[in-house]
Amino acid sequence: STPLAGPKPLAGRTITISAGGTREALDPVRFLGNRSSGKQGVALAAAALDAGAHVRFLAAHMDVQAPAGVELVQVESALELRDAALEAAVGSDVVIMAAAVADFRPAEVSDTKIKKVNGNDAPVVRLVQNPDILHELVVRRDAAASTQLIIGFAAETGDEDGDVLEHATAKLKRKGCDLLVVNQVGVGRVFGQDQNSVIILSGHGAAPQSAAGSKSDVAAAVIDRISTELSRVRP
Ligand code: CTP
Ligand code: CA
Repeated sequence: STPLAGPKPLAGRTITISAGGTREALDPVRFLGNRSSGKQGVALAAAALDAGAHVRFLAAHMDVQAPAGVELVQVESALELRDAALEAAVGSDVVIMAAAVADFRPAEVSDTKIKKVNGNDAPVVRLVQNPDILHELVVRRDAAASTQLIIGFAAETGDEDGDVLEHATAKLKRKGCDLLVVNQVGVGRVFGQDQNSVIILSGHGAAPQSAAGSKSDVAAAVIDRISTELSRVRP
């Protein structure tokens, strides 16, 4: 915690933070996963605790430990994370979706370990799309006419359809969240790294804000921005 005196900007607030990467089962021993380390989510939780918030921490698979002092919920798959997020969001002032949610899961999950069969072709795994948790949170928030703040994270690359900012701006519109924290991804960048550089896009027309440094620095900037937004919409 900070040695500086003064009121904690998030005292009395509850923040739900999802972190890590979901794992989608193929059979009892195998899954489809992703390279999210959970470090950014852990840094966000630490910054939120520091600011005095009560933190509901929804942890999918992480390479690191959840910080002490959070209300911890461990999840495996996107469907489990969806249930946990919809439940934790009730009564939360802020929801931050920092988890890497698998876009697809195997359509069938085998109850028993999938075996090799000599001479047979390799199996084909059919995938189905997972629900968009962030979008669902926004729809529920709006249906409840709540002023909850909902924050998404996005890792983007530029391609022939547009640059990072164009893709991110379109995503922010699609999701309908209040803030979208945008990482630029590429080989050797962001995933598992300790340094980070982001742009915070606003769904309400505020100018883009950049933040860079360690994942703790980025987390502090995001939590700071959230405190400012909260004191504006819910003083
Ligand atoms: N997200 C979510 N549910 C999903 C997929 C993503 O809640 N099924 C959230 C992530 O936690 C993140 C944000 O949505 O906060 C953006 O994730 P991203 O993967 O960039 O968005 P997608 O809509 O899945 O778009 P893309 O096709 O670029 O992966
Ligand atoms: Ca995705």
